Amino acid sequence: MTTGRLLLALPGNEGFAGRLARELQAECAVVEARRFPDGESYVRLPLDPAGRVVDLVCTLAQPDDVFLRLVFAADAARQLGATEVNLVAPYLAYMRQDCRFKPGESISSLSFARLLSATFDRLVTVDPHLHRHPTLAALYTLRADTLQSAPLLADWIAANVANPLIIGPDEESEQWAGAIAGRIKAPHAVLRKVRSGDREVQVTLPDLTAWRGHQPVLVDDIASSGRTLAVTARELARQGLRKPTCVVVHPLFGGDAYGTLLPLCDRIVSTDSVTHASNAIELAPLFAAALS
Ligand code: R5P
Repeated sequence: MTTGRLLLALPGNEGFAGRLARELQAECAVVEARRFPDGESYVRLPLDPAGRVVDLVCTLAQPDDVFLRLVFAADAARQLGATEVNLVAPYLAYMRQDCRFKPGESISSLSFARLLSATFDRLVTVDPHLHRHPTLAALYTLRADTLQSAPLLADWIAANVANPLIIGPDEESEQWAGAIAGRIKAPHAVLRKVRSGDREVQVTLPDLTAWRGHQPVLVDDIASSGRTLAVTARELARQGLRKPTCVVVHPLFGGDAYGTLLPLCDRIVSTDSVTHASNAIELAPLFAAALS
């Protein structure tokens, strides 16, 4: 029987899983998954997991498409004798639905947490969107490791941006903006945002004209519609500041978001929590340190 940690990537996660496997010097393979003609999912593990710790590697952007095959793979690993079945999800979905904003809405963060907690022994993720839930332990009952990318973002900014002014576009982003600015001893500002719809945001800036000689660096955990960053970039331009550098943890960029944002920015970079053209900051070493 082969022993040692086994990394199993869900399709689409081969790149991240491969980088993680190299860091961990662990065996890595790709779960076989396809659709039956009726649209149901077929899943097969490519290696015997008996007696091994199994890490399923699957980022959860577009979660509805992948969730069932992830559960089927986890259950198969457990049924076939894995000693531990973990989920390595660089992006953890549904964290923003943390409240019943309108009567009758589902609080999907709680439902999603219940389903993942019933399926896995451990979850390892980076910068989940913790706003109204203070920690993952408030909604997940499995062991949940919350990694933080701020030091990596800070080091990228220090190496690539001269004279930065770190800007968080809303109150939630204070946690990243403050940590990054503190690490590289840069000034920072946190703006106020009001969201009135999926694609409608208003961002209020203080007077930043004194910082016109600095390079604005917008930091946010998620870029989804891209409106938060786009509206902020336009507001910065109205005050005569330079086009910002955008540094994003989770580059979801739905629809035309990335194309719309690009001309408003000097540069857009992201971590590889979700595979995207903007990826510039690798998270595998951070995850490897947590898993090893
Ligand atoms: C929410 O508060 C997050 O921190 C992000 O600011 C938000 O998810 C960005 O969404 P969008 O790109 O759709 O404006």
